[in-house]
Amino acid sequence: MAILKIARMGHPVLRGVAQSVADPTAPEIRRLVSDMVETLADAGGVGLAAPQVHVPLRLVIFFVPENRSGEEVPLTVLINPVIEPLGDEAEEGIEGCLSIPGMAGSVPRWRNIRYSGLGLDGKPFSRDAVGYHARVVQHECDHLDGVLYPARIVDFSSFGFTEELRKQGQDQEDEEEV
Ligand code: NI
Repeated sequence: MAILKIARMGHPVLRGVAQSVADPTAPEIRRLVSDMVETLADAGGVGLAAPQVHVPLRLVIFFVPENRSGEEVPLTVLINPVIEPLGDEAEEGIEGCLSIPGMAGSVPRWRNIRYSGLGLDGKPFSRDAVGYHARVVQHECDHLDGVLYPARIVDFSSFGFTEELRKQGQDQEDEEEV
């Protein structure tokens, strides 16, 4: 296991479209995931996409902590994911990103989605997600298409350094970096 270096906004690996994982059960994928889990724990975030650790593959990991409103979701490995919005309801919520440290902004996301993909065992699975859970998955999967959350911001008055936003009382949620 190893703690990997996290790419920051401006690095080209964060702008590219990642490639599908050919064999989710390959030993190098297992090693990558175990390093990503360790890296995420060290960084104190809730999600991480492979391009954020300089690996341009369609693989993300995430969890939803217990203290979040709604359901708790255990650490999930999602490979070659597909997201389908359920309904057309969108909602704003504060996001941060481990690749854009110290900043946060309000981003519109689908409120209800179904996501599907492969697990580390190579087996397909799918889940319905709502609210924060849906938000984290949409944020992570955006990384696979080279999209960082500032590109989705509509209201830029909410975007800034978390330290400053905190002074203005704008960080109503304890936004985690993903
Ligand atoms: Ni991110």
